[in-house]
Amino acid sequence: MLSFSNILQRIETEISLLQFNYPPKSLYDPIEYILSLGGKRIRPALTLMACNIYNNSIENAIKPALGLEVFHNFTLLHDDLMDEADKRRNKPTVHKVWNANTAILSGDAMLIAAYRLIGETESTHLKEILDLFTVTALEICGGQQYDMEFESRMDVTENEYIEMIRLKTAVLLACCLKTGAISGGAPENDAELLYQFGIHIGLAFQLQDDLLDVYGDTATFGKNIGGDILCNKKTFLLINALNNASEKQKETMKNWFAKTTFEPEEKIATFTSIYNDLNLKALTEAKVQYYYNEAMKCLEQLSISTDKLCVLKDVCDHLMNRQS
Ligand code: IPE
Ligand code: IPE
Ligand code: MG
Ligand code: MG
Ligand code: MG
Repeated sequence: MLSFSNILQRIETEISLLQFNYPPKSLYDPIEYILSLGGKRIRPALTLMACNIYNNSIENAIKPALGLEVFHNFTLLHDDLMDEADKRRNKPTVHKVWNANTAILSGDAMLIAAYRLIGETESTHLKEILDLFTVTALEICGGQQYDMEFESRMDVTENEYIEMIRLKTAVLLACCLKTGAISGGAPENDAELLYQFGIHIGLAFQLQDDLLDVYGDTATFGKNIGGDILCNKKTFLLINALNNASEKQKETMKNWFAKTTFEPEEKIATFTSIYNDLNLKALTEAKVQYYYNEAMKCLEQLSISTDKLCVLKDVCDHLMNRQS
């Protein structure tokens, strides 16, 4: 089986071979820009690894893996515009370097390019992979819509939050794993277990993202800290803050929600201090651990050898310790 670093190297090579150099330059430059900034490449890596578990050759999974990474990067262009985020992968976001319309249109072109790449999947598994991708892409739109609607709601429950992050984040990781499994010729039951594994690891992944948005370090995280606090995102931390706060803390939070002009640093400091008082970092970490354990239960049921299982577990552990 290929090592994780070999897989990452192959992905970088393949991404650098993608051609986005036709006119108009202003449509394709932002695509090259976002793809050249790297990121963890965890989605295509999961696709290639899942394939490699069942097949010595990863060639059948290369096109869909690339399509899934291009798709992920497309969602970032639109997400940063919607979240008014200025920084991504330690660089200014596309709508900051260019403008909002560029982020929209170059994003659209990336979505189409992603479909084209996935459409180049070898024919035996094309329909199944394309159908899974289409369902997943629509689910993500649903998740993103909930994410935005929740900004102006004060009564979002933990269950609603989990469903929202399942849709906006977890289904893509699950789709990447299942796509790889299908390309590699995995038994159906294993492909489904890897999908369920992806859902649980994806929920843990988004909970961590919420944590890093408050407690991370900009230099390693590559995004501005406190972005979620500034736009009243109903993260796991904020939902639990609203549920557990004293009357005085609730009043403080409500006053901040109502403000339209304020010092960003002051709002971030206020909410962070409430989160600290309520011990919400530990609460969130426990939830991350819960989903990690659930993910492991899915892995244990796979019909694969222990050494292959270890490779997957290592990648999970690497993800669970992430600072970026
Ligand atoms: C960012 O995804 C969007 C989320 C689902 C939190 P990643 O954290 O995988 O971003 P990159 O691709 O590594 O930059
Ligand atoms: C990302 O959620 C989900 C998608 C991009 C579909 P976030 O908005 O939390 O991701 P970041 O923090 O901007 O990467
Ligand atoms: Mg965002
Ligand atoms: Mg978002
Ligand atoms: Mg985030």
